[in-house]
Amino acid sequence: MGKPNLPDNEITRFSVSLPGKLLCDLDQMVDEKGYDSRSEAIADMIRARLVEHHWTHSDHEEIAGTITLVFDHHHRGLQAELTDLQHDAGAHIVSTLHVHLDHDHCLEVIVTRGPAGPIKRLADRLIATHGVTHGALTVITTGKDLITTGKDLHS
Ligand code: NI
Repeated sequence: MGKPNLPDNEITRFSVSLPGKLLCDLDQMVDEKGYDSRSEAIADMIRARLVEHHWTHSDHEEIAGTITLVFDHHHRGLQAELTDLQHDAGAHIVSTLHVHLDHDHCLEVIVTRGPAGPIKRLADRLIATHGVTHGALTVITTGKDLITTGKDLHS
């Protein structure tokens, strides 16, 4: 398929063929989520999949996202271990939020920004640390994605 050569923010129409059921399900989701149009919903989905594609396929892609951890507050040495891992990755950590969830559990949200590779490895190590019960890396955007916000796809 040829690459369309268009300015970044020019809105372009293209046609898509879908099974009827899939289109019905799409329209229902568009309605439930409160999108103004199918185009807005589809653009959001495409953007999310592109972000995912780029950061999972490149170590150098610039990303911004969060690492969320839930861990056992009583687990000996765990807090220090998690902090050591974060100090080693210092440059890529923007901010950390710590919440004392209940008597036993802490929730930590680590905001990261930088190249995908080191951030993925940091997330993997934090999540794999013994005593961490839940963990996830959520990538919100790549550097590229910041250029086009495109919330103007009314049809
Ligand atoms: Ni705590």
